[in-house]
Amino acid sequence: MDIRIFNNTEEIAQAASEIILNKVKSSPDAILGLATGASPVATYKKIIAAYNAGEVSFKNVKTFNLDEYCSIPASDRNSYYTFMHENLFNHIDIEEENVHVPNGNPENAEEYCASYDEAIKNAGGIDIQVLGIGRNGHIGFNEPSDAFTAGTYKVKLTDSTIEANKIYFDREEEVPREAITMGVESIINAKEIILIAEGTAKAQAIHDMIKGEISPACPASILQKHDNVHIFIDKAAASLI
Ligand code: F6R
Repeated sequence: MDIRIFNNTEEIAQAASEIILNKVKSSPDAILGLATGASPVATYKKIIAAYNAGEVSFKNVKTFNLDEYCSIPASDRNSYYTFMHENLFNHIDIEEENVHVPNGNPENAEEYCASYDEAIKNAGGIDIQVLGIGRNGHIGFNEPSDAFTAGTYKVKLTDSTIEANKIYFDREEEVPREAITMGVESIINAKEIILIAEGTAKAQAIHDMIKGEISPACPASILQKHDNVHIFIDKAAASLI
């Protein structure tokens, strides 16, 4: 693991965006795996700035997002579809047909999830996967459990995740209880992974991911097995390692 401890969000975003931008410059048809949440926002801002400066084009880039809430439509202000458009896609020249955010409300979840994995495979697999990490060690919405998950699937969110997501919703009843997420196997199939985390709330998860045993009790611990993973964290998130 390439573990780097930075002073602030700006430095993390600089390092993460550099890897992504270099990939897109050298492979203009790169396949990017993207995350929502607070962690990658500053990195996306740097990517937008590079695009605005004319350094890079996303015309031929394809993206696959990790996850999407069930029970709210893609048009909802809290959907990950909306989040990605507001924080990245609306500001760069990516083609909408090349953007993939899971459908949170498929008619047949099993068939739909298999088709999402198939689409990633047909595109050639993910070159760089951006990840955040949950306070409970989740990646995507792969929550702590007894077994590592395989491909994309519909998952029930844990109380800890629902609690963390509450800040985005007006009323508690609106917070989705389920999501469609890439499985752990879909995630580690990516050729390169960048995980970003900040703050003391993430310190235990970061410790367990790096120093704990590889176990589905901390889904992110699977990253120990990957040979091209960058862990970009601040001092607070690194405080227990
Ligand atoms: C988001 C995702 C989640 C988040 C994680 C951290 O697409 O899959 O695993 O990365 O919950 O969220 P933040 O960055 O908001 O702390």
